[in-house]
Amino acid sequence: MPVTCSAGMFHVRTSGTSLVMTVENGLLLQLYYGKRLKDAEIKYLLDAYPPRASFDTPMAYLPLAAPAVGTGSYCQPSVSAMRLKTGDNVTDLRYRSHRVYEGKPELAPLPSSRGQSRTLELTLEDSVTGLVAVLSYSIFPDTDVISVSRRYENEGGEPLLLRDAQSASMPLPAGKLDLVHFPGAWARERSVTRREMRAGEQTLLKSSRGASSHSNNPSVMIAERGASEDCGNVYGQSFVYSGDFLCCAEMDNYGFARLSIGMNPETFSWILPSGEAFQAPEAAMLYSDSGFNGFSHEMHRFVLSHIVRASWEKRERPILINNWEATYFNFNEEKILKIAGEARELGIEMFVLDDGWFGKRDSDNCSLGDWKADKSKLPNGLEHLVSEVTSMGLKFGLWFEPEMVSPNSELYREHPDWCLHAEGRPRTEARSQLILDLSRDEVAEYVYKSVASVLRGCDITYVKWDMNRNMTEGFSPALPPERQLETHHRYMLNLYRVFARLNDEFPNVLFEGCSGGGGRFDLGMLAFMPQIWTSDDTDPMERLKIQYGTSFFFPPSAMGAHVSASPNHQTGRATRMKTRGEVALAGNFGFELDVSKLSDEDKAEAKRLTAFVKRRRSLISGGTFTRLSSPFENNLTAWQFADKHEKPQSVIICAYRLLAEPNGRVLSVHAQGLDEKADYRDIASGKVYSGGALMYAGLPIPELCGDFDSRVIELEKVKSKD
Ligand code: GLA
Repeated sequence: MPVTCSAGMFHVRTSGTSLVMTVENGLLLQLYYGKRLKDAEIKYLLDAYPPRASFDTPMAYLPLAAPAVGTGSYCQPSVSAMRLKTGDNVTDLRYRSHRVYEGKPELAPLPSSRGQSRTLELTLEDSVTGLVAVLSYSIFPDTDVISVSRRYENEGGEPLLLRDAQSASMPLPAGKLDLVHFPGAWARERSVTRREMRAGEQTLLKSSRGASSHSNNPSVMIAERGASEDCGNVYGQSFVYSGDFLCCAEMDNYGFARLSIGMNPETFSWILPSGEAFQAPEAAMLYSDSGFNGFSHEMHRFVLSHIVRASWEKRERPILINNWEATYFNFNEEKILKIAGEARELGIEMFVLDDGWFGKRDSDNCSLGDWKADKSKLPNGLEHLVSEVTSMGLKFGLWFEPEMVSPNSELYREHPDWCLHAEGRPRTEARSQLILDLSRDEVAEYVYKSVASVLRGCDITYVKWDMNRNMTEGFSPALPPERQLETHHRYMLNLYRVFARLNDEFPNVLFEGCSGGGGRFDLGMLAFMPQIWTSDDTDPMERLKIQYGTSFFFPPSAMGAHVSASPNHQTGRATRMKTRGEVALAGNFGFELDVSKLSDEDKAEAKRLTAFVKRRRSLISGGTFTRLSSPFENNLTAWQFADKHEKPQSVIICAYRLLAEPNGRVLSVHAQGLDEKADYRDIASGKVYSGGALMYAGLPIPELCGDFDSRVIELEKVKSKD
């Protein structure tokens, strides 16, 4: 894993990419990020950045790796530190030293990537304030992703106020570029959005909601205008953090682009006394010359091998049934056991009890915080239900929303000051609940204990960790006034501490993240919870878009996907069990409906689906996922799973048609990455096709029937013509 530093040039190389930096008049410049170079002999590129106007300082036009404030750089600053004594925030970072070492910086309690790595560390300093910025670029042997993080230290004698502390700032070449990002809303998460970048424009994507949010995902790409799924230059960043963020995609007035990501200064500042340090979260950055699919292949590998806990990297995930859409709050032990019994017959492996099992929770207006079983629903207690279900041969999972408190709860009556709030202001409720002030250690301790004590008491092997509202009045009267804007971040740090403790104490529990569906779908959550409930929208046709958009940065094994009832509860759309199942099997497969009420035909189909998933889940969750046809552009959506990145042995192609067309043409899909010299047999029909034909001529998808139909085609390599 080469990192070379010579003649003032820093060259970080992954197997496919190069990042080249240099120092000019003490300023750290990022000269190049792109396809791998033989060496770093590219200082001549500086000629591309001549001073353009006598009234600009070099800061205004040079490709600064860490642009700051007040000395002539006008792009989104990486850091801004105010001297509390004088009130100015001029921040001027100049090169001090560098080193290369094996491994990566330790960021705990923040989540960060793991695994064998090597790091280039560059230290910059502001000689007036004593602010020191330590920039780390870490590479891994098996991925092109570079993990970047920044630590800010105060070596001066006076306290500083960090008003901005970004994690990555990536100057990019000039060119015709598009911004690709993933905005959304509840039940409509991560829709693929592509827009032209224009000189002089800055696009700010952000969350100030206390969660990475449904509205914007902290994962963003810049692509050259001609880039498509399968070719072209694509650059991207994803924040390893689950709270507020700011991502800025900008193009200066000369057409040079920059992408940066980090804390959102709107809800963040940090007092940095002399001698103290602030660690900003990590960000993953990636360049691919193979289009969006090439980018996603690398990113998925990175997530599995370097973000999710090692114990879950290859571990098969159980097929579960969740009772939320089956019963909502209206259940009792008998009803649950009936569903669980039927589920077992269908081949399901785990029962998950969702919201409503604790306190007096018959609707969403009470009891959050009171994590004791509701005896009116479970008269024999939770332990009894768990042992009944596990004795059927099913595993047991449980829903919690531990970060919340209902004003109508024992917890709130006892500790009315334990929620986030601002002195003298009303506490805004959403879904009749408030958010616990996790910036307070005693509150974080309560959250940890509430979950841990339930897990210690019974055989629970899965936890769905929900967060069903965003922050308002996100302040903590327990902090001094000058530290109020630290509240959101302190909340996240303590939340991560709770996650780490629970992971350590319960290594066999599979934690699934959730936030009103996919409202906190990010690398920070995935570092503790290897899967996330992708969306509360379980309509299969809507899910095609949501899962497609999510797959740009996140692998299928990160996405919870369930078969729910028809007509669908969110859209009212009626679809076949087969279609619902064939969409859900493209993620972490499960069910979320009352299976005891299914027709015999649907039960048979559900059994077929669970048998299929058991047979093929290692390929689906561990193989290479490739998008073939977009639901945002086409009537036919298609994607592919392959056991190997290139020349696979086994391939599964999934195709889904939205609307039937009278007298329409037969739709085809073009497979990707197959061995063009080999033949592949369609296991169901026995037909044999050459790999080249499947890729270049395409495979017609025949016999689609009516609206919302799907086909899953399993192909097996039969012989190589070599
Ligand atoms: C959120 C989740 C749902 C369900 C409900 C329960 O909306 O996304 O899956 O757990 O909460 O209240």
